[in-house]
Amino acid sequence: MSASDMINDCPVLDLRNIQFSLTHAKYLLSEEAIIQTQIKDFKLGNALADAFIVDKLFILEMHTNAVSGVSLEFEGRDIISIKDFSREEINHIFKTAKSMEPIAAKGSEMLRGKILATLFFEASTRTRLSFEAAMHKLGGSTIGFAEAEIASVKKGENLADTIRTVDKYANVIALRHPLEGAARLAAEFAEVPVINGGSGAEEHPTQALLDLYTINKEKGRIDGLKIAFAGDLRYGRTVHSLAYALSLYNVELYLVSPESLKMRREVLQTIKEKIPVIEKTSLEKIVPLVDVLYVTRIQKERFPDPAEYAKVKGSYKIDLQTLSEAKKDLIVLHPLPRVDEIAAEVDNTPYARYFQQVWNGIVVRMALLSLILGATK
Ligand code: NCD
Repeated sequence: MSASDMINDCPVLDLRNIQFSLTHAKYLLSEEAIIQTQIKDFKLGNALADAFIVDKLFILEMHTNAVSGVSLEFEGRDIISIKDFSREEINHIFKTAKSMEPIAAKGSEMLRGKILATLFFEASTRTRLSFEAAMHKLGGSTIGFAEAEIASVKKGENLADTIRTVDKYANVIALRHPLEGAARLAAEFAEVPVINGGSGAEEHPTQALLDLYTINKEKGRIDGLKIAFAGDLRYGRTVHSLAYALSLYNVELYLVSPESLKMRREVLQTIKEKIPVIEKTSLEKIVPLVDVLYVTRIQKERFPDPAEYAKVKGSYKIDLQTLSEAKKDLIVLHPLPRVDEIAAEVDNTPYARYFQQVWNGIVVRMALLSLILGATK
């Protein structure tokens, strides 16, 4: 019997909307409001409801894992590259993130006593602050620095020693570093899990997870979509991770960039083996075809030569004119920060979903922290 048959066969409760795991179920079920929204036709008291539903979910979870033959193990795991994740694991992260939506609004004590260290050697607003906010919302605390200038690297300390030190202070480390491979290196020196918050122009796996979560939430699916990336596909790390992640789904990917900023060759080679990929330099004919338009900033700071940046600066500007032929239900995403690639006039249209992406960053990072710290299975 499949998991969905089990759900449909459940005699007392309508479990179809319940997507959280066992630990979350226990937590959420102590919240009366949620009991009321999740449990239909329930005649007994809340305590009995708890026991009953926790039991059901336990059986369901065991059964699902047995059916799929998959054991989803997140506790203690590093998050370095999105390539380390299967579609099933991403799905489990989505379910956990969804269960975090009410917790994000109210707060919880799930990670009380746990410490997240955010070591950011490069500029950040959303990634660092959303990791910290996620930790606080789960009852944990944070330490760290937001610029290398104030850390001991300024005195000549190497990354390995910094990591070996912070490893003694924290239960999990989120690291952003200008060098590709930095997160992988840090994971080798740390005993606690390391999360890659951006490794040079290489990857940004947690951004890819929140981008995917946003697409799934806004469009109700990922399979079957036509998705375009526009902007800096060479130096933009978010599009590298997102491209790898999307290649696990049945999507068509349009890559729109100036010639000099085309998608990195190793990413292209990998994804082309799995999904149809169409490369273009002009957006005009692509906009009417797609369901999702993912826009990126030209990564000025990563150009070795300022003259090269000057040539491509301002290559694309998404405004109402660009979107005039778009599908009505197109969504426009952007990892932010934006410079001039999306005009402010787009912000108030139904296309714009980049600030929803920001909110989704919180719940996805709450899910990741609770999974790798073992508070959720
Ligand atoms: C991105 C990054 O740092 O790679 N921002 C983010 O994490 N949301 C995108 C960018 O800087 O352009």
